[in-house]
Amino acid sequence: MSQEFIDIILSRRSIRKFTGEDIPDADIKTMLEAAMAAPSACNQQPWHFVVSKSKETHEKIMEIQPYTKMLKNAALGIIVCADPELQTCPGYWQQDCSAAVENILLAVHALGYGATWCGLYPNDDRVYKIRKLLDLPKQVFPLCVIAVGVPDEEKPPSDRYNEDRVHHEKW
Ligand SMILES: Cc1cc2nc3c(=O)[nH]c(=O)nc-3n(C[C@H](O)[C@H](O)[C@H](O)COP(=O)(O)O)c2cc1C
Repeated sequence: MSQEFIDIILSRRSIRKFTGEDIPDADIKTMLEAAMAAPSACNQQPWHFVVSKSKETHEKIMEIQPYTKMLKNAALGIIVCADPELQTCPGYWQQDCSAAVENILLAVHALGYGATWCGLYPNDDRVYKIRKLLDLPKQVFPLCVIAVGVPDEEKPPSDRYNEDRVHHEKW
């Protein structure tokens, strides 16, 4: 069982080609449960998630962030947001929300779907325009959009283990 989980981690890749098929709401909920199971500083959970299935919204996101073209055939986008006002340990929301993003990517892969993490923050222009597009409260930051869909491509695992980056006791 645990080897299976390690295999999920080691075989996850960014999937950018999707069939355009829908994903059941129960599976989307599983992805969000995985997101909210992430660790966060002081357990502050500063996140919000905007689930978008609208083709019109996806077109607009593609205009705002040109490296999100895979949204065209995606079943959904999950815009991972942070509300800094929810922080009880200020300064950690980027780390907290990134942990949630990785949990989503792993859950997506474990469920047999594909996803790509597409960055928004810290690009001010993208943050401003996505905030406006999705009616986010003014203090809320969109960290990224995760394009999720039924995969229409297969990618081999990418072995990036690099012994040179490992230090024992001291650098
Ligand atoms: C912070 C961040 C921002 C990223 N932004 C984009 C993006 O805008 N568009 C995209 O296609 N991939 C994006 N990626 C995905 C990376 O390109 C990808 O993870 C990396 O090339 C490694 O490939 P893999 O995910 O298949 O292992 C982003 C990844 C991270 C962590």
